[in-house]
Amino acid sequence: MSTFVKGLEGIVAAQTEMSFIDGQQGILEYVGIPIGELSDKSTFEETVFLLWNKRLPRADELKAFQRELRSRYHLPAGMANRLMALPTSAEPMHVLRTMVSALSMHDDNPNANDVESARIKSLFILARAPAIIAHFDRYRRGLHIIDPDPSLSFAANFLYMLNGEKPTPTMERAFDICMILHADHGLNNSTFAARVIISTMSDVYSALTGALGSLRGPLHGGANEGVMKMLNEIPSIEAVEEYVKGKLERKEKIMGFGHRVYKTRDPRALALKRLAAQLAKDTGNQALYQKSSRIEEIMEREVAAKGIYPNVDFYSATTYHCIGLRLDLFTPMFAMSRLGGWSGHIIEQLSDNRLFRPKAEYIGPHNAPYVPMGNR
Ligand SMILES: CC(C)(COP(=O)(O)OP(=O)(O)OC[C@H]1O[C@@H](n2cnc3c(N)ncnc32)[C@H](O)[C@@H]1OP(=O)(O)O)[C@@H](O)C(=O)NCCC(=O)NCCS
Repeated sequence: MSTFVKGLEGIVAAQTEMSFIDGQQGILEYVGIPIGELSDKSTFEETVFLLWNKRLPRADELKAFQRELRSRYHLPAGMANRLMALPTSAEPMHVLRTMVSALSMHDDNPNANDVESARIKSLFILARAPAIIAHFDRYRRGLHIIDPDPSLSFAANFLYMLNGEKPTPTMERAFDICMILHADHGLNNSTFAARVIISTMSDVYSALTGALGSLRGPLHGGANEGVMKMLNEIPSIEAVEEYVKGKLERKEKIMGFGHRVYKTRDPRALALKRLAAQLAKDTGNQALYQKSSRIEEIMEREVAAKGIYPNVDFYSATTYHCIGLRLDLFTPMFAMSRLGGWSGHIIEQLSDNRLFRPKAEYIGPHNAPYVPMGNR
């Protein structure tokens, strides 16, 4: 019980009914349903209902949930002005984290953290995240803000507010699939952060703000931007081999590969690979897709023996690029979807809470002398 495990690898710190992962066999299920089934047949809105309620909705329940979510797309009064007072050079992940925190000031009772209140707050925050990101992106590009359209799905409304035109059904579906695939993933670093924070009986805004801070790290959700930067650095498909081998020789990581849990193919990467291939074809980005799959081939040859395979971030980079998203919006897209998962974990934690309080192994000296200032 008191053995130090660096990075907490393999330590079970919570119980969940939301997602199941078998990293050896490459299985991910949400509430028991394989992720491939959900990405083929479900929608993001239905998936969030599933994660929060631990069952699929009936048709009337889904309609009611969509109505609840979609009627809250608008930012509270004054918040859009606050967004437009931010420096245009701000990074969207910092903007999202700050604005999710700021939403608490538009809530009459931000600290209520009984399960029902947490559910309502989660819905408010999830509904508004797309407007925060899309409005800021248009403002920094000098474009006018597009009001949300509550007749549209979560995915379509975001793309509409971002681009000023409704997405094609193919684009809407592609983006919706990305949202489904990123929604939940066991006790990853940001989900753990959310559960740790809410376990103090703090509030939903604080827990989600902390999770957003965790997600933006390059070893976590920030990796998808790293993948795109890498793809941009490689001038051609012919240059891939030398680039990848050079990095491996210098013991540098290839972004979008490797995972703490998966020691085989990440099932989300399989779904995203298919999506990236299709979108690349539809949008004339085949060269980008070909570079990605060449990297995968070389990595397979060089490091698959170590259990290093593409993770969720690898093909999401090509997918997001084909959807037309700017590079620094990649991690916010991950965040927008994962707000659904984090919220479910907050609800779960509150339903059976115990304060997280691990301990540290002290490895410093004992009985050390207090050396007076003049003698140091
Ligand atoms: C995700 C990640 C942090 C997991 O880390 P971890 O479980 O602590 O694994 P380690 O970093 O200890 O790696 C184990 C071995 O695989 C190698 N490895 C891991 N990821 C690698 C990568 N992306 N490229 C090349 N080698 C990699 C390590 O160099 C190490 O090799 P060694 O045993 O010869 O020293 C790590 O794989 C990584 O940094 N990947 C790139 C960032 C990324 O894509 N993150 C998104 C995760 S969803």
